[in-house]
Amino acid sequence: MKNILVLNGPNLNRLGSREPDVYGSATYEDLVAGLISLASELGVAVEVKQTNDEAELIEWLHNAADNKLDVILNPAAFTHYSYALRDACAIVTSAGMKLIEVHISNPHSREEFRHKSVISAVATGVIAGFGQDSYALALRQLAH
Ligand code: DQA
Repeated sequence: MKNILVLNGPNLNRLGSREPDVYGSATYEDLVAGLISLASELGVAVEVKQTNDEAELIEWLHNAADNKLDVILNPAAFTHYSYALRDACAIVTSAGMKLIEVHISNPHSREEFRHKSVISAVATGVIAGFGQDSYALALRQLAH
């Protein structure tokens, strides 16, 4: 069975209570449960993780490259400035794995600083603006 890694950056553990007008009222636990259930429907396995620590996220990406895992990544605020995370994403995609950058909101319709992603150029693709369904769309694509 194909394994897919779903990685989440800072503050995404606060989904549900964090700015619900922007990120919706579904919690992080709802996100994890929804992805596990969709994965079993699609016949793939998912591991869903979240960290507020940039170094930890980078380690997880290195492990994805070493273990040949496709990745769904919501880099959260790191999207906009972390060249270290970008380089780790490039390690994954240049190892031949797919990496889909996802966002719950549409960063392009928000503050100016969110319009720039330093990740997108090294991602396989980007899905943004569909709430927690952004992850489901990415999972369906990787399960193909
Ligand atoms: C986000 C968008 C980012 O700008 C923000 O910093 C986040 C969440 C999203 O999923 O919409 O933390 O990645």
